[in-house]
Amino acid sequence: MSMILWSILGYLLGSIPFGIAITRLLGLGDLRQIGSGNIGATNVLRTGNKPAALATLLLDSGKGAIAVLLARHFAGESAAILAGCAAFLGHCFPVWLGFRGGKGVATFLGTLIAFHWPLGLAACAVWLLTAVISRISSLSALLAAIASPLLAWGMGRNDLILACLFMVALILLRHKANISRLLDGSEPRIGRKD
Ligand code: G3P
Repeated sequence: MSMILWSILGYLLGSIPFGIAITRLLGLGDLRQIGSGNIGATNVLRTGNKPAALATLLLDSGKGAIAVLLARHFAGESAAILAGCAAFLGHCFPVWLGFRGGKGVATFLGTLIAFHWPLGLAACAVWLLTAVISRISSLSALLAAIASPLLAWGMGRNDLILACLFMVALILLRHKANISRLLDGSEPRIGRKD
């Protein structure tokens, strides 16, 4: 029972679309009509408002981490893993937006940090290093995601590999358009609309 409860709570937490809420509150327009139309921090940055993008990044990653930490505190490690995956699912398919949500990257990173902080920080390092070199958010996200099950395995956290694989699969799926643009060289650099 508690597993189902934590999955639902994780999903509901993850489904809060902070990017949309923040841009609306600040009068920055409808995020779905800006840039890639995605609801994440990378697209919020395309409004030109850096603090709004940072707040979206922190809140989107924070909701994943909080879901994991709460479930772990009250119901143990298995519930925590389930709640983290559910929060990630909630971000990608929020009921409030007709199940058309984001690409899950910030929530994925926050969830990983709460799962096992060295794993989360290592994935963030892959993201950051790729971003510094390429200046492309989606490429950084894809490499960080793909690295995560390998990192979990390398750190002896075999219990997290399945959760990582689940999130990697969804991240790949949600980045279909980005992957096409990466392949034809038209993916925009961080902060740019074109
Ligand atoms: O974290 C989201 C990023 O990977 C892609 O975002 O807006 O460039 O499609 P966007």
